[in-house]
Amino acid sequence: MNRKITVFGAGFVGSTTAQRLIEKELGDVVMIDIIEGMPQGKALDMMESACLEGFDAKVTGSNNPADCRDSDLIIITSGVARKPGMSRDDLLKTNAEIVGSVCEAIKLHAPNAIVIVVSNPLDVMTYLAGVKLGFPKNRVMGMAGVLDSARFRCFIAMELGVSMRDVDAMVLGGHGDDMVPLVRYATVAGIKVEDLIPKERLDALVTRTRNGGAEIVNLLKTGSAYYAPSSSVVEMARAILHDEKRVLPVAAWCTGQYGIRDMFVGVPVVLGAGGVERIVELELTADELAQLKKSADHVLANVRRLNLS
Ligand code: 2OP
Repeated sequence: MNRKITVFGAGFVGSTTAQRLIEKELGDVVMIDIIEGMPQGKALDMMESACLEGFDAKVTGSNNPADCRDSDLIIITSGVARKPGMSRDDLLKTNAEIVGSVCEAIKLHAPNAIVIVVSNPLDVMTYLAGVKLGFPKNRVMGMAGVLDSARFRCFIAMELGVSMRDVDAMVLGGHGDDMVPLVRYATVAGIKVEDLIPKERLDALVTRTRNGGAEIVNLLKTGSAYYAPSSSVVEMARAILHDEKRVLPVAAWCTGQYGIRDMFVGVPVVLGAGGVERIVELELTADELAQLKKSADHVLANVRRLNLS
């Protein structure tokens, strides 16, 4: 029997995620959205592409949150996207209500699921899901580090005119302007990028990575990115469903690692069938640790705005 994956939200991020999941045959997908007919229409459209794309996985659309019943994996994309001039933090109150009600349905109908949060502001919505679900914290996480790292890798590859596949890089911290691209650990085919790109150009790539989401919002004007975000969450979904033990940056529950306690913040983890199986502790410089702390403090300030605890 195929694994069951529910995607809450059938907007651009949710529907592109569903499309990538079924095209890769990672499981059968249920897309749930409050807009009547929309998830059903998108699901039917996707199913009609199956004979052409050559996949056998199924996707259905629903307006009933209870249809997440007994899912193995749940991806929450529900909520509003930001518009030009808005920060992710501006979405806090609206998306907290939406994500909170989605979590109530998950808790009731899919108590054994692993949950990946994609809604913004990412780290705070992941915290909210952690509290509302009450699941073991290894089964709740947020997607952002994979996306921010993909952007950093893309900009390094474009700068050097080399294949994206040969660039490795990791971005830690919250999914906001003070995220922490780890320049020291970025490599091209094993060669440190610091030996290949002059410092002022590297600084510019770091800034572009930090503004990666806003750059797309400003170009689109009516919404935010969805191609790279959906690829990123599907990378995490595959690691979990195939028990790949991938080492990926994920918004994970920290219990003292990197000096961060009782918070969801982007850190490198081993991702497998058990969800976040462990946090990998890299050696960081005092400056990198200070940047990570600043980013975690920013997340904490927004968590407090929710008055959850
Ligand atoms: C982004 O960075 C939507 O937060 C997402 O594009």
